[in-house]
Amino acid sequence: MEGINFNQIGVSFKGSGSYVPDQILTNQKISQKVDTSNEWIQSRTGISERRISSVKDNVNEMGYQAALTAIEMANWDINTIDLIILATSTPHDLFGSAPSIQAKLGAANAVAFDLTAACSGFLFALITASKFLKGGSFKRAVVIGADQLSSFVDWNDRRSCILFGDGAGALAIEATNEFDNFIGFDMRTDGGRGSFLNLPSKNKKDSIVDEIDFLSGGFSEIQMNGQEVYKFAVKEVPLILEKLLKKMKYNSDQVDWLLLHQANQRILDSVGERLKIPKEKILSNLEKYGNTSAATIPLMMDEAVRDYRIKQNDIIATSGFGAGLSWGAALIKWG
Ligand code: ACO
Repeated sequence: MEGINFNQIGVSFKGSGSYVPDQILTNQKISQKVDTSNEWIQSRTGISERRISSVKDNVNEMGYQAALTAIEMANWDINTIDLIILATSTPHDLFGSAPSIQAKLGAANAVAFDLTAACSGFLFALITASKFLKGGSFKRAVVIGADQLSSFVDWNDRRSCILFGDGAGALAIEATNEFDNFIGFDMRTDGGRGSFLNLPSKNKKDSIVDEIDFLSGGFSEIQMNGQEVYKFAVKEVPLILEKLLKKMKYNSDQVDWLLLHQANQRILDSVGERLKIPKEKILSNLEKYGNTSAATIPLMMDEAVRDYRIKQNDIIATSGFGAGLSWGAALIKWG
């Protein structure tokens, strides 16, 4: 295996990539489907439009495209990639979609697997990959967040269907023995509050032969208690970020960018206010894409890297949060 080196101490961020489907669902168009308005959606969420996967844009394809552009930015030989983690709640194959992406990339020397933690998934995957790198097991990793929630949204439920969109993002990260740009992290779950946001299985009882029942597989639509999720996010996200900053001995004015899971602009503003991080430092693109679940953080990061807002050595405080309930935070330095 390439890259086993127990002197590796840190992680370096080498590339970012992203992909969104072409189909644009505007607030005006959603208003043709459910009783809502552009004004209501914009004022309550900050979202104007979202992307919706067509047949060709499943999680494999979106994840592949995002990974490829991240690898191109990193300028890596595809054969040097050791690890691919795909964070998704909507795999194209329930047995795992990451190996298909590995095959499509031609990353023959990598091990690839899926990780599910809803909207915290990308952050949890990034932390997992960084541990493999810092532990010396692997040298190069691609972490992908990709989701296609449009397949599971209840398009008749105006309280939830306005929020979600499809997309993918990816980061290419590398082990190094010179410095550590993965400064610190924290991660939490509370299954006791899990019923606030679910995408549960929908099983139908059937029988195989006499007296032997089985449950046929399938999934329901997204079920969400929006107010409870909102309250959870505005309470827990500032807390976990504050704790992390304190632990790593950083002040919030040393943070160049606050990069939160893009769920709702009001959540972003509230967390920024609580941390005393000014609006100009809060990265947001949910106006264009809505909540793309595991994809939001790398999708936003890629946009800000490519338009030169995020520069080498910028400090980014990031937090993912969502179903589980799950939440986490990481403090990183770009480059
Ligand atoms: N258009 C018009 N009216 C609406 C809409 C809509 N799309 N949706 C709800 N309303 C109505 C309600 O019926 C209600 O009317 P009523 O008072 O007559 O009963 C009124 O607006 C207020 O409804 P609330 O649910 O209180 O609206 P709220 O201000 O809480 O906003 C929202 C709802 C946007 C969903 C908000 O609660 C939110 O963003 N929560 C967080 C959800 C979230 O981020 N989920 C994803 C987490 S990440 C993951 O893991 C996938």
